[in-house]
Amino acid sequence: MRYKDGHLREGEGVTPRRIGILGTGIYVPERVLTNEDLARIVDTNDDWIRERTGIAERRIAAPEENTVTMAVAAARQALENAGLSPRNLSYIILATNTPTHIFPAGAIQVQEALGVNGVLAGFDLQAGCTGFNYALYVAERLVAPEGKYALVIGSDTNSRFTDWTDRTTCVLFGDGAGAAVVGPVERGGIITSFVASSLNMKLVCETEFNAEVSPFVPFSNTTSRHFLRMDGPEIFKFAVNAVKDSIRRILEMAGIDREELDYLIIHQANNRIIEAAARFAKVPLEKLYVNIHRYGNTSAASVPIALHEALQEGRIRPGDKVLLVSFGAGVTWGAALLEWSG
Ligand code: ACO
Repeated sequence: MRYKDGHLREGEGVTPRRIGILGTGIYVPERVLTNEDLARIVDTNDDWIRERTGIAERRIAAPEENTVTMAVAAARQALENAGLSPRNLSYIILATNTPTHIFPAGAIQVQEALGVNGVLAGFDLQAGCTGFNYALYVAERLVAPEGKYALVIGSDTNSRFTDWTDRTTCVLFGDGAGAAVVGPVERGGIITSFVASSLNMKLVCETEFNAEVSPFVPFSNTTSRHFLRMDGPEIFKFAVNAVKDSIRRILEMAGIDREELDYLIIHQANNRIIEAAARFAKVPLEKLYVNIHRYGNTSAASVPIALHEALQEGRIRPGDKVLLVSFGAGVTWGAALLEWSG
């Protein structure tokens, strides 16, 4: 049954299709900021950063770049790799924590850059570093009933929200974008997925108020506060448990054993978190993709960048069971198990 405008009525005549990732793309800025460079800005050193996090360098957006420009570059590459044009898309979902504007949404700016104004719906989604998993979860449910295509992007310009005088956070983050085209697949695709959240104020970025332009803002709220602040050790504990919970839940939901997991893409926040999860899941380190040493934590872009690079390096083969796991501010966490379609 369809409405007059051709849309299917909810629950009637709907044939859910298996949805998969058809193509991926990434963009990282040219500028490399090494640990040695950072040691000239704050009281830190290469040994501490490498030992505690696994990070050696990260990318920093040029002044003319931002979350949208990076998202557009990653999106174009994902569309090319999927063999689709922007006109094939029905949705663009941009997962970001560092938008260029509170409104309009970054996804609509991406839509404009891709030349498809008015022919699809674009919207942003904010779920900390779990943004890509959240966007994938939503996209699957949007496109499955009618076999449509969606562009799912994770893009973050963390350098613009970093307090460069705070050594406990500024060494961790980097800028970048990753994108995936999502749509119906003949074989494989997303087997199961979940997303979760729970309020935790140990990782926050507040909105900036400006009393000069509003007589209604209390004086105490007038300073610039749009910098990320984090209680690292607390978030570390949450992160390890979130990854363990994600692996346990997904295995249960899919009804498979951990040995059946072929490849794991875990949010690149800290090498120690990734390794702790691998020990828990009893998966050998060669089943894990790690690029944190090159990019640091790129928030919502981390999982799609790692997925794209793992694909480019031939680490994932058709038929492989691939687990995408992430966790972040909110706090949020989530995972998706895919059988790689190839
Ligand atoms: N260089 C040198 N010393 C440092 C630095 C630095 N950059 N940062 C902290 N230290 C010092 C501290 O001051 C402390 O010194 P003290 O013992 O004299 O007080 C010491 O190192 C140990 O500090 P801890 O914070 O206990 O270090 P820890 O081993 O916990 O590592 C880290 C810190 C890397 C931040 C870790 O806690 C972590 O990775 N947390 C999780 C971060 C994360 O996963 N975020 C994901 C979500 S991000 C998002 O959603 C936006």
